[in-house]
Amino acid sequence: MTTCSLTFPRQIQLAKLPTPVQPLRRLSERYGVELYVKRDDLSGIALSGNKIRKLEFVLADALGQKADTVITCGGAQSNHCRATAIAAAILGLNCRLLLRTPDPSNPPPLDGNILLDRIVGAEIAWISPDEYKQRDELMAREATSLQESGRKAYAIPEGASNALGALGYIRAMEELVNDIVNTLGGGNQPCTIINAAGSGGTSAGLILGAKIFDVNARIAGINVRKDRGYFVQAIGTICEQAIADYHLVLDFDRQRDVRIIDGYVGLGYALSQSEELELICEVARTEGIFLDPVYTGKAFFGMIQELKRDPRCFGEKIIFLHTGGIFGLFPKAEQIWPLL
Ligand SMILES: Cc1ncc(COP(=O)(O)O)c(C=O)c1O
Repeated sequence: MTTCSLTFPRQIQLAKLPTPVQPLRRLSERYGVELYVKRDDLSGIALSGNKIRKLEFVLADALGQKADTVITCGGAQSNHCRATAIAAAILGLNCRLLLRTPDPSNPPPLDGNILLDRIVGAEIAWISPDEYKQRDELMAREATSLQESGRKAYAIPEGASNALGALGYIRAMEELVNDIVNTLGGGNQPCTIINAAGSGGTSAGLILGAKIFDVNARIAGINVRKDRGYFVQAIGTICEQAIADYHLVLDFDRQRDVRIIDGYVGLGYALSQSEELELICEVARTEGIFLDPVYTGKAFFGMIQELKRDPRCFGEKIIFLHTGGIFGLFPKAEQIWPLL
């Protein structure tokens, strides 16, 4: 039953959908729950993960505005920037990336996502963490200067996490309705959907999508940076913007509806503890799935710690949303090899 209707704006097709849902039989037995993985890491265009669903809407808007260049930003190994760079190549657009690094005069080596960014032709500007705080202004300035040289640039916010990008995960929730019926055992089964929260757009889409498509699911984000307060604010703002922009008639309360499980940032954003990397190896060896060290590895680690504390804390059925990021493993090779 649909409780609220949404007319989606124009979307381009980039992702290979629907992505599969895979039961994790051995890990389910080990941790005493029914555990499934929604394989959005297999969403297509070079394993682009969650970003591609958002970019289907955001890049449709860029093309609608006749842009010839897209500008976006992120950390040095940003999956979002890499996905944008590849999608731009598919669409024949130029791509300029503002990538954050501690010392822009000494940028990181050509590895992981950075290597893919460069191979696919993206232009990279290295910026410091302090400059990154002004990222939206910097992108606007770049867009203006490109405009002055006769180009038309379109700026995409960090993680494509705005109301438009969140539509990608509202749509994904429509897909999950079928997954829940077909894979979890029929009907509108109660379940918990767990995802890594990095900039908040994925969580925002899932929360709104669950309401729009009346899914009997609790959405729980595990933050891989910042803290709960930051994400209640960030995700709440994206949800409220989407409700306003798309005239959604639904009951949303950020304090009630944004569920964040805090406490698993560990050593910090993109920094890995051995326990997290060991779990990545355990999941790969037990189920043949590669989690990434920055997002899904930390979120999966958090989920398992919560299950060890209370095996029923998420109910009986859990869908872990695998949002991609495999290329982040390669720059961690030195830290991983002693664990092998
Ligand atoms: C692999 C991966 N998973 C999860 C996320 C988090 O998604 P969001 O930024 O929408 O919170 C990101 C990006 O930030 C990502 O690259």
